[in-house]
Amino acid sequence: MAKSTSKTDADLRIGVIGAGGRGALARGAHKPGEGARIVAVCDILPEPLDIWQDFVGKDYKLFKTDDYKKLLAQKDVDAVFITVPDYLHEEFAIAALKAGKAVYLEKPMAITIEGCDRVLKTAYETGSKLFVGHNMRHMDFILKMKELIDSGIIGEVQTAWCRHFVSYGGDAYFKDWHSEAKNTTGLLLQKGAHDIDVIHWLCGGFTKRVVGMGRLSVYDKCKNRRKASERGIAAWSAANWPPKENTGISPVIDVEDESTIMMQLDNGILANYMQCHYTPDACRNYTFIGDKGRIENYGDGYGRRIDIYTSRGPFAQPDQSIHLREVAGGHGGADPGIVWSFVLFAKEGKSVPSNSPIAARNAVAAGVLGTKSIRGNNMPQDVPPVSAELIKYFNGGQKKAAAPAKKAAAKPAPAKKAAPAKKAAAKPAPAKKAAPAKKATAKKKK
Ligand SMILES: NC(=O)c1ccc[n+]([C@@H]2O[C@H](COP(=O)([O-])OP(=O)(O)OC[C@H]3O[C@@H](n4cnc5c(N)ncnc54)[C@H](O)[C@@H]3O)[C@@H](O)[C@H]2O)c1
Repeated sequence: MAKSTSKTDADLRIGVIGAGGRGALARGAHKPGEGARIVAVCDILPEPLDIWQDFVGKDYKLFKTDDYKKLLAQKDVDAVFITVPDYLHEEFAIAALKAGKAVYLEKPMAITIEGCDRVLKTAYETGSKLFVGHNMRHMDFILKMKELIDSGIIGEVQTAWCRHFVSYGGDAYFKDWHSEAKNTTGLLLQKGAHDIDVIHWLCGGFTKRVVGMGRLSVYDKCKNRRKASERGIAAWSAANWPPKENTGISPVIDVEDESTIMMQLDNGILANYMQCHYTPDACRNYTFIGDKGRIENYGDGYGRRIDIYTSRGPFAQPDQSIHLREVAGGHGGADPGIVWSFVLFAKEGKSVPSNSPIAARNAVAAGVLGTKSIRGNNMPQDVPPVSAELIKYFNGGQKKAAAPAKKAAAKPAPAKKAAPAKKAAAKPAPAKKAAPAKKATAKKKK
């Protein structure tokens, strides 16, 4: 007998739009009876729908459709994961918010600044909850670097650099929709929205001005192209090497395969982000330099290490090295973490630092304008600000102020003599001192 999907328990009932590819993320939210379960899936291809049915079990009642509007019309869907390609994010998110669903929207929030602002405005006007999937905010090495910075161990951060080596560039970004600017604007936001967001988050500011240089230098030389009528297959293979010999490359490529942007943050910090899509190895390598030291991560997958430099000495002899343990789950444990943060946010309105639609918009803004600078003679670009009203709403946990109480019809009672105002607790509570970073495998300089 088919299991019921009616709300007989406290499960959040979830629909997945874009059930294949990244949609697999939502598997982590299928825990019937434990707080959340998938009740509906949508994809334009039949295979992902079948794979989901296999996953939940053949007797489980799952609403399946190829039309996202039909999924949104389902009354027993409380929340949706939107995991479709970037160029659909804005349209699908706005429709879902208007349908009253809590929304998990994959990064990048949209492919234009205006698109992001329309999504923010719709969330504000409808009061539907919006969560943007910046899962790097759940990665242990990022959290550790944030903890170190917040502890003050490197003093005040002055500059931040990120070198992003994408060994799977040819496999993942130059074979399908990713390779065309009309679908992504560019890879600076498609891929780099994560890193720009991390830089913003750890530096405590947003990009105010951005300048970029970049070019398409390798994948346009690939001879083995798929036909425009064929579907692009973005799958990693060790055999796809060297990059120019990669096969099935898109017929149209109008995005850069190497980009560098310089960002001036609104708190004065200067940051650099560099992205290259044809490296043999893959890593996001960040360094944050403060006025009392520097931290840097080596590796973002296996064997992750963070080196801390707080006294003068050779590069090979950091003051401390933190070796991070391996963690289970997609993207270094980040995916299960972010999925449950969304579930709690959708059910209980519980705010988590990983969800900041304003930050998600500002990461897109820096990526879009960095791309504009790259394609526009490297001219500096200034990021337009988000309205104060929207900042207040989203930073306040997406809670609307209660509507003012209705005026009573009756004649008001004579006002009581006002009691003298209590003396306010004049002195503000002292700010909590940040906890010092935990010493891991400390290696003292000789
Ligand atoms: N946060 C992360 O770590 C991470 C990782 C991968 C992808 N992503 C994001 O996830 C999104 C999807 O990326 P992907 O690589 O899975 O792409 P994809 O091309 O595999 O598309 C995902 C699914 O959406 C379906 N789809 C396409 N158009 C649709 C439509 N009109 N209606 C319903 N379904 C439709 C596709 O058939 C596919 O099954 C992108 O925005 C990407 O940036 C995020």
